[in-house]
Amino acid sequence: MSNTAKEKIEILRNKIREHDYNYYVLANPSINDYDYDKLYKELENLENENPNLISPDSPTQRVGSDLTKVFNSVEHKIPMLSLSNSYSEEELINFDRRVKEGLPSNEVVEYVAELKIDGVSVSLKYENGILKTAATRGDGSTGEEVTANVKTIRSVPLKVNLSNTDNYSLIDFEVRGEIYMEVEAFRKLNEERESEGEKLFANPRNSSAGTIKMQDPKIVAKRPLDIFVYSLLSVNTSFNTQFENLKVLEKLGFKVNSNYNLCNNINEVLQYCNAWETKREKLPYEIDGVVIKVNSIKQQQILGSIAKSPRWAIAYKFKAKQAETSVKEIRWQVGRTGAVTPVAEFEPVLLAGSTISRATLHNIEEIQRKDIRRGDSVLIEKGGDVIPKVVSVILDKRKKNSPLTLPPDKCPVCASPLYKPENEVMIYCENNLCPAKVKGQIQHFAARNAMDIEGLGESLINQFVDLGFLNSYADIYELINHKDRLIEIEKLGEKSVSNLIEAIEKSKEKPFPKVLFALGIRYVGIGAAQKLAEHFESIDNLMKAGIEQIEEVHDIGPSVSASLNSFFSIQKNIQTIDKLKKAGLKFISEKKEKVSNLLDGKTFIITGTLSISREEMKDRIISSGGKVTSSISKNTDYVLVGENPGSKFEKAQKLGVKIISEDEFSKLIEKN
Ligand code: IVH
Repeated sequence: MSNTAKEKIEILRNKIREHDYNYYVLANPSINDYDYDKLYKELENLENENPNLISPDSPTQRVGSDLTKVFNSVEHKIPMLSLSNSYSEEELINFDRRVKEGLPSNEVVEYVAELKIDGVSVSLKYENGILKTAATRGDGSTGEEVTANVKTIRSVPLKVNLSNTDNYSLIDFEVRGEIYMEVEAFRKLNEERESEGEKLFANPRNSSAGTIKMQDPKIVAKRPLDIFVYSLLSVNTSFNTQFENLKVLEKLGFKVNSNYNLCNNINEVLQYCNAWETKREKLPYEIDGVVIKVNSIKQQQILGSIAKSPRWAIAYKFKAKQAETSVKEIRWQVGRTGAVTPVAEFEPVLLAGSTISRATLHNIEEIQRKDIRRGDSVLIEKGGDVIPKVVSVILDKRKKNSPLTLPPDKCPVCASPLYKPENEVMIYCENNLCPAKVKGQIQHFAARNAMDIEGLGESLINQFVDLGFLNSYADIYELINHKDRLIEIEKLGEKSVSNLIEAIEKSKEKPFPKVLFALGIRYVGIGAAQKLAEHFESIDNLMKAGIEQIEEVHDIGPSVSASLNSFFSIQKNIQTIDKLKKAGLKFISEKKEKVSNLLDGKTFIITGTLSISREEMKDRIISSGGKVTSSISKNTDYVLVGENPGSKFEKAQKLGVKIISEDEFSKLIEKN
């Protein structure tokens, strides 16, 4: 291998890194596209000629070709905490008081105020200055590895120049920040998706979150993701202040949002928050508040953390964005439970990055309380939860003689009588065969989180019900008998009918908890279904159980037990269940089959990344008679250690618990 090729490659890489930094981090291009492409091609050619010189930190290696099959889990050795929120000046003043109370008296407290970028948080781990892994926050202690996708973000350095920060002797370190998408880029992406008939993202944050978890980095590379980083963590180095921490990140070549401000007291913090409450409209990206951090790291350490958030930082959340529009119509919709809900249809209006054309008005009491009428001008807002709502009616703009909104006197779909249970605000259609109810129930049954019947979506279900192929979800398993007639339905064709039948067959494999949830029994969500299935093990046992027995199940209360009781008392529901049983659906819990007694009574802790998923490893342990627990004690028999183990590894060493590798575990269960 010629030395010159190696040198040339390194020179080209450094040049490209420099131009990338100028373009993507500083937004200050230092080369034209043509010359940049030439450099890039030259590097690519040299690397192709000398494949042994390709290294993962080369600018040519941003976009990998391998699909991510499973997202490995990554333990955050230092947990990724969240922040407590505040919404008013008063709350910030209280925060300042609590901070001062937590520190030796008369200590001066400075704060750093930063913009709170509305994206998804990410952790980047560097070894010797080279990006090794990127992970999502997950539950704060374990996230998912998304390195291949994060590498495609051009403002993320794959290699940093440590000599820029010599005096800090950084070697291995972690950087935390927020991945986001600019509003304009998000709009363009949604436009493209619309023209291709794909589902739209609700807002830039959802779009970033969806993109970072995609399996194909090539697609991610085409999406306009970007990053702002806000924290550098390193075991070798300690910084004196958050301000200094941000400066070092900048020196290392990371993209830090430049609007941070050192505040000498809480009043300066309040000024910063107020200024950004209005200035945020002008930013090309979305922020949902300000993060206020105690500047001194020493003071941060004294203050420490409670449960999931530090005492030394707080988020100041902006008030929800509002917009004015008019109510074109108030429609009444019938859901799968028969509940008749009012929905306001608006003149479409842009609010916080998305177009709003409707919002639920929940129930008649809500309409009466706010006195919302057709034709009214209303103020709508979208909170952090993305769901738009009507805040108030602008009464000055109300037209004369506008009619009061009244609840319907019959079902808007099937014209059957309505009833209102005592102690409820909702009104219900009493016809169990109401097409809207039937459609809603079938939709729930086939949905992704229930039986997951691919291809059986809302519009096909509506057609099938209207054409009389489906009268209940049990009829889904008889569609196969009408195959020829289905093929004749407009736009369906043989291929899609075959795919649908295949998906229906596949759904028969769904485990009992999913089937129980799919039945759509009121108050039986997926969590309750799981608990009930685990406890009763079969639908027959559950049907036989009395209210008291049902309520003995942990976390199952009277509303669930009463609802189950009433569901099973209806003859038609029993017939439906019988039909589904005959079709071969699972109404019995699957027991994890025990294959040996080798690990009987032994308790295990798992830490670090294994070659198989944690769930799979747990199954292996359980099927040999062992137990997996989450907290370690001296009674733990084994700590099973994978790559990058967490704090449990050290604890095991301290407690003298036996530590085994995956290989050693395999030997343990293969003994006989
Ligand atoms: S500091 C313990 N700084 O907001 C410190 N967070 O709940 C926690 N965020 O998930 C984070 N901009 O992803 C910090 N300048 C900023 C931030 C920021 C956005 C996100 C972060 C975290 C959430 C806080």
